[in-house]
Amino acid sequence: MIGSLDPDQNDLEQRILEETRAHGPTPEAIDLFRDLILSYFRAHGRDLPWRHTTDPYRILVSEIMLQQTQVERVAVKYPEFLEQFPDFEGLARARRSEVLRAWQGMGYNRRAIALQETARRVTEEYGGELPADVETLATFPGIGKATAAAICAYAFNMPVVYIETNIRRIFIHFFFQDREGVRDDEILPLVERTLYRENPREWYSALMDYGTVLKKRTANPNRRSASYSRQSRFEGSDRQIRGQILALVLAEGTVTEKEVILRLCEEPGRVKRILGDLAREGFVAESEGVYTCR
Ligand code: ADE
Repeated sequence: MIGSLDPDQNDLEQRILEETRAHGPTPEAIDLFRDLILSYFRAHGRDLPWRHTTDPYRILVSEIMLQQTQVERVAVKYPEFLEQFPDFEGLARARRSEVLRAWQGMGYNRRAIALQETARRVTEEYGGELPADVETLATFPGIGKATAAAICAYAFNMPVVYIETNIRRIFIHFFFQDREGVRDDEILPLVERTLYRENPREWYSALMDYGTVLKKRTANPNRRSASYSRQSRFEGSDRQIRGQILALVLAEGTVTEKEVILRLCEEPGRVKRILGDLAREGFVAESEGVYTCR
């Protein structure tokens, strides 16, 4: 069951914590740590849709979705999205409004535009093949260093070293027990030392799952990270209004500023500003006061 550990794993966890508390990240601690993460995964790893593929396009889509949307929601949306846009070519030539519609319910819609932009660049500049290289991947819109590395691990099984929220949580829990303000540059050498090089794809999947159980079991260790920040409140936020305006344009085809103000019962100044943002970022096009999504 998620959130609980087998007695053997519980015992391993205690031994790692004792070892690192007394002596730091010794070779023994590292071996035990690798055993724990892999044995937990082999017994309790989640069966997630993106774990049934190594296709770079499919891995890219999953990693972009997982950047800011919970696993449970992505697990529902992901197969639908892939059915509609099965490969780089399909996504590249789709209408933007179709892509945004397929993205609805996931939030942070900029990611959908960036993903389509990446698909277009991959088809036009890379012959339809996603480059297997962290530096190159990080030049695509919406792909930062961590996402680029995750793609290299899951699609290409490359022994990359990176950090994201689940990984950070695990390493702070096991290796920085009495510390506050832990910086990523202190964690990264440990990510490198512990990496299970025989199978980076399995290793990073295992870290994701352990990070998830750890979140359920402990006070969030990421509070002790120098990079800690909580997602801001959604209710009443610009993010919420943006989503509502975009949903309205997608449902109606075209809207005027006045219609948006009336339908959402929002302040005119706020609607004007957010519509301007949406137009500048390529979500909608404006012509003579009428907004549409292509
Ligand atoms: N979060 C980011 N990437 C992930 C993945 N591949 N599996 C589960 N959670 C993730």
